[in-house]
Amino acid sequence: MPAGTKYGASSWTATAVQPDSSALISPEPRTLRRGGALWRCDILGIVAVTVTANDNAMDSKANPALRIRESRASDVGAILRIYAEEVRTGTASFELVAPSREEMSVRRESLLAAGFPYLVAELGDLFAGYAYAGPYRTRPAYRFTVENSVYVAKRARKRGVGLQLLNTLISECEAGGFRQMVAIIGDSRHTASIQLHSRAGFRLVGTIQNVGMKFGGWLDSVLMQRALGEGANTIPTEPLHDG
Ligand SMILES: CC(C)(COP(=O)(O)OP(=O)(O)OC[C@H]1O[C@@H](n2cnc3c(N)ncnc32)[C@H](O)[C@@H]1OP(=O)(O)O)[C@@H](O)C(=O)NCCC(=O)NCCS
Repeated sequence: MPAGTKYGASSWTATAVQPDSSALISPEPRTLRRGGALWRCDILGIVAVTVTANDNAMDSKANPALRIRESRASDVGAILRIYAEEVRTGTASFELVAPSREEMSVRRESLLAAGFPYLVAELGDLFAGYAYAGPYRTRPAYRFTVENSVYVAKRARKRGVGLQLLNTLISECEAGGFRQMVAIIGDSRHTASIQLHSRAGFRLVGTIQNVGMKFGGWLDSVLMQRALGEGANTIPTEPLHDG
């Protein structure tokens, strides 16, 4: 996909602008691993999308540019600050104690090594959020299905960051040959996340009730799902019999 291409065109209302060449993070094809199989693909070659959040007619101070790019190792501290606050105060994560920086780095590197996208968002000077995909489940028959995660800093919320991150992640996963994306949302009262996923084309597939316990109360897991690319309409040509 060429530089400057807008992701998530159907649901993003802002205008993409051409990123500068330094924004092009990964021009080379990547090796992806799926269930023990290795295959090359050239689709994760871009990740830098710059848009003007919400209303590109507004001046850039009032409404700074939103930029989505691939994460770097140096982003881990900012990623962890967002995640740790959510672990401490929210129910999106069922972790009870935030991981260490080292653990967060290892998680990110493991996902990248396995060929999953891991993106960040910058809103002007603000590190605004991050999103990544990972395996939905680890057994190899699930290899065309990913689970997504999106986290936006509290002070950057409701400005379109989450939706743009998620739409970009969807585009990356489609280009990577994945066929289904699953969101596991904690909890059923988490309207923001449920609405966000609805806006990105997910449908509700079920609620697993009272499977979590955090802050002294039971939590549901809301399952939402979205087909990627050709979804289940075709059989992928990638090696099917791995492992
Ligand atoms: C869920 C979350 C990622 C949304 O990020 P965001 O940047 O605020 O979302 P956006 O501004 O892009 O909003 C996109 C859509 O989500 C919905 N939405 C966002 N916040 C909402 C809220 N507080 N209440 C209801 N709907 C909301 C709206 O439909 C919105 O579209 P609209 O503004 O056109 O109506 C953010 O609240 C967050 O990080 N929460 C904690 C972590 C989490 O729950 N992550 C998701 C689980 S993987």
